[in-house]
Amino acid sequence: DPIPAPDINKCTLTTEDLKGLDCCPKKTDIIYNFQLPASPPAVLRTRPAAHNAAYHPEYVAKYRLAIELMKGLGEDDPRNFRNQANVHCAYCEGSYHYTMPTKHGIIDGILKEIQVHSSWLFYPFHRWYLYFYERILADLIHDPTFALPFWNWDAPDGMYMPAIFEDDPVLNPLYDANRNAKHRLPGTVLDLNYHGKDGNTKDDNTIINDNLRTMNSKMLSISSTDWCSFFGHPYRAGYQPNPGAGNIESIPHNTVHNWTGTDSSLPPYTGEDMGVFYSAGRDPIFFAHHANVDRMWYLWKNNFGGQDIEDTDWLDSSFLFYDEKQRLVRVTVRDSLDTTLLGYDYQCADIPWIDPAY
Ligand code: C2O
Repeated sequence: DPIPAPDINKCTLTTEDLKGLDCCPKKTDIIYNFQLPASPPAVLRTRPAAHNAAYHPEYVAKYRLAIELMKGLGEDDPRNFRNQANVHCAYCEGSYHYTMPTKHGIIDGILKEIQVHSSWLFYPFHRWYLYFYERILADLIHDPTFALPFWNWDAPDGMYMPAIFEDDPVLNPLYDANRNAKHRLPGTVLDLNYHGKDGNTKDDNTIINDNLRTMNSKMLSISSTDWCSFFGHPYRAGYQPNPGAGNIESIPHNTVHNWTGTDSSLPPYTGEDMGVFYSAGRDPIFFAHHANVDRMWYLWKNNFGGQDIEDTDWLDSSFLFYDEKQRLVRVTVRDSLDTTLLGYDYQCADIPWIDPAY
């Protein structure tokens, strides 16, 4: 059976990385079912590469304004910046549970924990999370074409913390104090194979070439029908969480998280914000990181013939999110498959890892 949406009225304090944090959204019994449009909207929201966005000051100004407005919303408003970060926390730190589906007329009232990482729910959950986050930002600035940027870490020009998140620490709402100081601009090249320690002896060119080779092997060494390696392992109702991550989720997704957050080998040893589930969404760079993760799914399908999973346990799994009108909406994996129906796509960019220099 598919993993049902969480029962948000039974949301609990976190039990994982950080015990006892309240990441729950406001309760409600009114749930809307998401309606996928029959055809794409006339104008798509096109997500730009973050490192190019710096050359488009009007875009950066809009993005900053939208985040600032989101930060200014009331604490009870599910669109509020902190509450949006808590969406991630609730879905990965043991707060959310679903009720086991009824089998043979017997209601099994057992509550099971929901975990959206390390399984085939990874791509669709994060696609939906960004979808609602982006629509909230667009709505706040009354610009339906507004799109999140993607952190283009798979191309040499994007293998740094993007400048739009780093400049002007005082006035920039995209800045986050909880990032690894050694990796801040004009700092070191992003190492997609980062293992939690700096001070390796590789020079920048070697890191860049290794990154391209990593991308090549993660994206192109798997056949177009080997969905387990791409999406992650099956996670069905009743299964233990974390059956196993797909290629990209492990590297570079996890490694970029750890590279960006504070150094967890130094006090206070937490790795906040990006390096831990409960706080990752508090860093605006999270959404640019995940836009590029999402772009890997998009490229895999559109450029490399990858196929989605046909199993209905995947397709009918569902999640809940508050939308830009503060309505709680139930969405399915099935409705996440076509980004143009969701109203967005990605700016065309070079794919230098197709043929990295060996
Ligand atoms: Cu939900 Cu990048 O983690």
